[in-house]
Amino acid sequence: MSSSLPVGVFDSGVGGLSILEKIHQLHPRESILYVADSAFAPYGPKGDEFIIQRSRHLMDFYLSHQVKAVVVACNTATAAAVAQLREDYDLPIVGMEPALKPAALASSSGVIGVLATEGTLASDKFVDLKSRFDGDVEIITKPCPGLVEHIEQVVPDWQAINHLLREYIMPLLDKKVDTIVLGCTHYSFLTTQIKEIAGPDIAIVDTDDAVARRLGSVLEEKDLLKNDKVPGEITFYSSGDLSIQKKLISRCWGKKVNVLPL
Ligand code: DGL
Repeated sequence: MSSSLPVGVFDSGVGGLSILEKIHQLHPRESILYVADSAFAPYGPKGDEFIIQRSRHLMDFYLSHQVKAVVVACNTATAAAVAQLREDYDLPIVGMEPALKPAALASSSGVIGVLATEGTLASDKFVDLKSRFDGDVEIITKPCPGLVEHIEQVVPDWQAINHLLREYIMPLLDKKVDTIVLGCTHYSFLTTQIKEIAGPDIAIVDTDDAVARRLGSVLEEKDLLKNDKVPGEITFYSSGDLSIQKKLISRCWGKKVNVLPL
């Protein structure tokens, strides 16, 4: 396999752009094929079988476009499908994991909160992860239905988003959490609003940096890091309505981009 091939990064929608941003900052020479499976977002309330089937579809797309590695930039898809994908596809796959470990280490109150989709929180993968830290800290989980749908809008309804955030965050504050883990890549787009509601004493933790670094070490291990000086190109694809997706992805990416059909 050639190190000049691109890396695939996918999510149910725009959430993975927060990971893409970190990957692009850390590895600016890597070319990326970003896929937003927007026609099928949100993944959160859908079952494992559906998410595995969609993830396989996206992996087949990546195989036909010859990528050297794939980042599943979606906690819900990682929880539901990454084990199966690693069995079925012979290429490096990097997944997400809610940052329970750093949160547990950093917490002084001994209580941490986790915001994620219902799918992630109900998954065996998350239950197993949580059980590893349950003895050290108290972990309060909060599924956040509706948030992803709002973030997927070209013009988000910030009032409704703040209302939902308050509903999800206040119970965590009542339980005296001092750290909130963002267990869904979409929520990185709400960090400012979450900080405003939670207040300055609460740490907000995500895994965006860690995943970008992990991709780097996986590529390095396999001698697949791109080693020329040519800047990488980013190409965006979506399964959704392209005229809407162009506006949405451009808003979230911070500049006007083109979006190709999946
Ligand atoms: N960005 C996603 C995650 O990290 C997907 C959310 C969804 O589609 O429900 O879980």
